[in-house]
Amino acid sequence: MRILLTGAAGGVGTRLRKLLPPIYPDLVLSDLKTPADLASSEEFIRADLSDLSQVKTLVEGIDGIIHLGGFSVEGSWETILNANIIGTYNLFEAARLAGVKRVVFASSNHAVGFYPRSTTIDTHDLLRPDTRYGVSKAFGEALGAMYAYKHNIGVLAIRIGNVGEKPLDERRLAIWLKTEDLVSLCRIGLEREGLIYEVVYGMSDNKRAWWDNSRALELGYRPTGHSENYADEVLAADAPAGDPIAAFFQGGPFCADEFTGDPATVLKP
Ligand SMILES: NC(=O)c1ccc[n+]([C@@H]2O[C@H](COP(=O)([O-])OP(=O)(O)OC[C@H]3O[C@@H](n4cnc5c(N)ncnc54)[C@H](O)[C@@H]3O)[C@@H](O)[C@H]2O)c1
Repeated sequence: MRILLTGAAGGVGTRLRKLLPPIYPDLVLSDLKTPADLASSEEFIRADLSDLSQVKTLVEGIDGIIHLGGFSVEGSWETILNANIIGTYNLFEAARLAGVKRVVFASSNHAVGFYPRSTTIDTHDLLRPDTRYGVSKAFGEALGAMYAYKHNIGVLAIRIGNVGEKPLDERRLAIWLKTEDLVSLCRIGLEREGLIYEVVYGMSDNKRAWWDNSRALELGYRPTGHSENYADEVLAADAPAGDPIAAFFQGGPFCADEFTGDPATVLKP
């Protein structure tokens, strides 16, 4: 399979670039910026996702896409619109035109950030985005379903928690995703036979999880990271969130950002 990785210069893309080549030797990297540490063995094509003609050229001859490219935190409407809404539309539309068979979409926990930490949710619970960024991920998931059912592209949306070497604070003990486990999820999205459209949570085997990830397990996911191994170290160093909105909701500071709601109405388990 010839696989395209968008967002290859970013934090997650840089990690995946180290693990994907043995699995997918025919790997094409893309981003707005050239990765600083690009090796001569790597194939890189610069493209702006918000420009359909560039994306059309980029996806020619591609079998499967891991779509990480975009604005990865809260931003102005114009920024989110161009990078994530138009960018993701262009990606799926170009994929359809080029006959791409699979797309793995990097969704986010911020598509469901406004659930209390005291609640366990699965992928049947309603979307509750906590930011314009989270709304763009909800849009990407919806777009993925449309392209899957209407245009025969197998789509896996991964609601990524937080990718890193280890969980960095108490919140991330619940949502941490080891890079190797993200690779396993990508492989399900690109290779699992019969996959039409699925949404899973991108987390490792975390004892303090807020998410029921049984659908991922049914699809064959076997996470190897255990955030609890880092719990003592993390909790000793972590300062509790000062803001009551950030402390209450799964989306943490993304929920508190620009919050003008009524705490008495929303702070209910
Ligand atoms: N890092 C995490 O733990 C995490 C958690 C949840 C979701 N995600 C999602 O995973 C993906 C990767 O996250 P990351 O942390 O590596 O983000 P990042 O910001 O480090 O990387 C994103 C990359 O996308 C590129 N990009 C932005 N706009 C573009 C455009 N118009 N055209 C082409 N490329 C563009 C940027 O140049 C950047 O290199 C993002 O979609 C993010 O929303 C990440």
